[in-house]
Amino acid sequence: MEYTTLRNGVQIPMLGYGTYQIPAEDTKHCVLEALSVGYRSIDTAQGYFNEEGVGEAVAQCGIPREELFLTDKVWISNGGYEKAAASIDASLKKLRTAYIDLMLVHQPFNDYYGTWRALEEAYRAGKLRAIGVSNFMPDRFIDLCGFVDIAPMVNQLEVHVFQQQRVIRPYLEKHGTQLMAWSPLAQGRNGLFTDPTMTEIGERYGKTAAQVDLRFLMQSGVVVIPKSTHRERMAENFDLFGFHLTDGEMEQLQAMDLGRSQFIDHYAPNVAEMFVDAGSV
Ligand SMILES: NC(=O)c1ccc[n+]([C@@H]2O[C@H](COP(=O)([O-])OP(=O)(O)OC[C@H]3O[C@@H](n4cnc5c(N)ncnc54)[C@H](OP(=O)(O)O)[C@@H]3O)[C@@H](O)[C@H]2O)c1
Repeated sequence: MEYTTLRNGVQIPMLGYGTYQIPAEDTKHCVLEALSVGYRSIDTAQGYFNEEGVGEAVAQCGIPREELFLTDKVWISNGGYEKAAASIDASLKKLRTAYIDLMLVHQPFNDYYGTWRALEEAYRAGKLRAIGVSNFMPDRFIDLCGFVDIAPMVNQLEVHVFQQQRVIRPYLEKHGTQLMAWSPLAQGRNGLFTDPTMTEIGERYGKTAAQVDLRFLMQSGVVVIPKSTHRERMAENFDLFGFHLTDGEMEQLQAMDLGRSQFIDHYAPNVAEMFVDAGSV
């Protein structure tokens, strides 16, 4: 496994396992499967309704807690200082752990300054080893950094070969914030799994387009958390450490950036309304 070091010295695996859209009843099995493949970092969220399944896997896997890295996220309906603080304690119980390695504010909606203060406090109390945000686009990210005690250590954003988040990267660097990729495979959108350029590069190393995309992100310093419910794909997405892309290949892949989301426009009014109207967890 390759690691990177967050601003506060905490080490995070460059590769983890995502659990979005894994039904609650399947989560324990999938996470145990991922751990047996070799993953040690697991990404969940209050809004995924599957923290309990992750917690059951953590309790049953037999791997020492300190070898695992758990990422969780506070949902919008738990926004504001008091609700966020209570939700962190609830998440600790669901995950059956005394601490969460990385807690993120899931979306820049509701009273996220209050949410952030709850994260800062839980961090100082040792309940959270690192704290960060997710889906904070440049304007929200710069705003938050300007008015809080501890700047986010991580920003988890949509990142894959077609959306490389070039605009925000200088601001992340300025604040020492690690970029973490959600949907690092773009869920296969825009033909990612059969893309001719990535397929051709992959053939040189006996790798798939998916593996080239993930290797490209990791080699660019981006933490990745691909999701699969299939063991063979979990293994494929984990097999990224035996090859190294050349400078020329990295440039070819950088040129594939479309600079826009394959999923969602965080600046669009209808998207803001969707998040404001999102239900409670
Ligand atoms: N912070 C946020 O707002 C946010 C948003 C989205 C996601 N996330 C996190 O990021 C994680 C990853 O994102 P994601 O789950 O949206 O998408 P993803 O990892 O980009 O893609 C997952 C999809 O691709 C398929 N797949 C995976 N590996 C494959 C392979 N090697 N070949 C062919 N198909 C493959 C999976 O199908 P099968 O499962 O059927 O194999 C699944 O449909 C999430 O699980 C979640 O933890 C966070």
